[in-house]
Amino acid sequence: MNKEFKRTLITTALPYTNGPVHIGHLAGVYIPADIYARYLRLAGRPVIMIGGSDEHGVPITLKAKAEGVTPQDIVDRYHAIIKKSFEELGISFDIYSRTTSGIHHETASEFFRHLYEKGEFEEKTTEQLYDPEAKQFLADRYVTGECPICHNPNAYGDQCEKCGTSLNATDLINPRSAISGAVPELRPTHHWYLPLNKWEPTLREWILNGHKEWKSNVYGQCKSWLDLGLQPRAVSRDLSWGVPVPVEGAEGKVLYVWFDAPIGYISNTKELLPDSWETWWKDPETRIINFIGKDNIVFHCIVFPSMLMAYGDNFQLPDNVPANEFLNLEGDKISTSRNWAVWLNEYLIDFPGKQDVLRYVLTANAPETKDNDFTWRDFQARNNNELAAILGNFVNRVVVLTHKYFDGKVPAEGKLLDIDREAYNEMQVLKTSLTENLENFHFREALKDAMGFARLGNKYLQECEPWKVFKIEPKRVETVLNVCAQICASIAIATEPFMPFAATKLAKIFSIADMQWDMLATKPVAAGTALGQPELLFEKIDDETIKKQTDRLEEIKKQNALKAYKPEPVKAEIGIPEFEKLDIRIGTVLSCERVPKADKLLKFSIDDGTGTPRTIVSGIAQHYQPEQLTGKQVCFIANLAPAKIRGVVSQGMILSALNSDGSLRVISPADKATNGAQVK
Ligand code: MF3
Ligand code: ZN
Repeated sequence: MNKEFKRTLITTALPYTNGPVHIGHLAGVYIPADIYARYLRLAGRPVIMIGGSDEHGVPITLKAKAEGVTPQDIVDRYHAIIKKSFEELGISFDIYSRTTSGIHHETASEFFRHLYEKGEFEEKTTEQLYDPEAKQFLADRYVTGECPICHNPNAYGDQCEKCGTSLNATDLINPRSAISGAVPELRPTHHWYLPLNKWEPTLREWILNGHKEWKSNVYGQCKSWLDLGLQPRAVSRDLSWGVPVPVEGAEGKVLYVWFDAPIGYISNTKELLPDSWETWWKDPETRIINFIGKDNIVFHCIVFPSMLMAYGDNFQLPDNVPANEFLNLEGDKISTSRNWAVWLNEYLIDFPGKQDVLRYVLTANAPETKDNDFTWRDFQARNNNELAAILGNFVNRVVVLTHKYFDGKVPAEGKLLDIDREAYNEMQVLKTSLTENLENFHFREALKDAMGFARLGNKYLQECEPWKVFKIEPKRVETVLNVCAQICASIAIATEPFMPFAATKLAKIFSIADMQWDMLATKPVAAGTALGQPELLFEKIDDETIKKQTDRLEEIKKQNALKAYKPEPVKAEIGIPEFEKLDIRIGTVLSCERVPKADKLLKFSIDDGTGTPRTIVSGIAQHYQPEQLTGKQVCFIANLAPAKIRGVVSQGMILSALNSDGSLRVISPADKATNGAQVK
């Protein structure tokens, strides 16, 4: 625990409002931040958690363009969706505001002007990419091209998502406009640059010497950046959507979104605490923690700190930046544009009352040290085998037994045996480990510790066997169920940061009015406390519910394959004589059956007009049931040399089309044709 700090300011990356938030955002940023904030509150330590929408930037204007609406329409729509869904998931922001707010525009303008007046910027006129068709300059996500470092062909003008390198649009090889597809030309334009190089020595000292405790992914990225050498970075753009550059002669220019967005943390603090916000930003006894995803590391560790240092006036730098890696979905990278995501707002509709399950699974699987994968099967298994079978089951048994033997009133503790004292000792050990893991942002491990209280409870109950002992020694059962009630209280407190909804229910059942971290592993439940009726904290999730979700993803995969489909290049040219060598005919499928022990093959008997049925074996068993094709007309190559396939002589080949999603469709004549007819 950091004694020298009086308060903690938690910031969470401001999500772009070009779509709802998805499980990747949650696992990477908001759930970890919320766990930490809730833990600090339970521990009685002053904390505020700042959030908000990032409403400027190119992804939003591109989305507006695609829909034919204004950027303001887009941000209004998604800000409302995001804010509401965060609330419903129990993300306990002290404020969730937005960067289109008046207070943010003022704060960001003032910040820029202050740096401008202090002479902290360089001004330069340089040649930048310009789209002659769309008649605008291209930067950031408005332009794509080949990454000069890793040669990913789809790098953006500000960053290559493949290798993580931060880029300038003019670094791209073969750039293309994302608006019109046009090849950009170079035109001169004037911009303001923040000389990051000026801050390099200070940043080196601060991070590389001063913060060796940072996560290795964060420290490592900062080090490689610093070792490459920092360059001045443009903080303005030729765009109309954003905070206007507040100096004369800057018409048509706005602040770069990565200049204004992090200032949003300050604006939102100001909005929350108009009188005391400065204490939270400028007092050295404040500890600032930035929760972000790995693609935001350089902005939070290099760019924003340089801005804060350039501003001066005691602005504090972050004490830690616990960035996470990425979460994948069923083995594929999550993507807003490809709709490959589990969207929070949709989850909340599909799984009402199951906020804790998502919070649990995303924490248990959090991409803390490496990219990780979310699968619906794992979601179901963790709910059924862990939450329902371990946590829910223990609590339920305690409540049921207390009702059965003691009329629902928590019995008094009698003489403690070794096994009881051992249970309290184990809870102490769990508490120490849990606290330490939370302090160090190891939330996956922390969650295991929190669940450890429930595991411990089950084991204790199993060993004490109150259902047997009650007949012989009912007094002993009083103590056992008292200990169990105290374990339930600890479960409530330990799981609150992770699963606040279940924890609140539990606290209510055991009448714990004011949960505090200090109560962990103690005896906060008074003897005589009347328990409510047993209620299931977690229900099992059935296969059908999961199948709905996996079917939806299958469907999206198909749609994406179709969108991305490019026909194979046309083969080398041929003449009529070569074409005429192929004898393609029409026939009717008389019968069709699977070839035993060959899961890809179907055996056809075909009326080819000769009077003698023709046998053809075709590799389409994974695309058709045999009965689907019986009676259908097909095209086949009649003069292909016969071949023996799995012991069957195949006399020809049935023609089918290979679709974008890999499926095969048999080719039939548009109208009924004569069996044996030649295809010309
Ligand atoms: N909108 C950015 C993203 O989604 C994050 C902005 S974080 C802030 O990657 F610091 F700029 F606010
Ligand atoms: Zn790259």
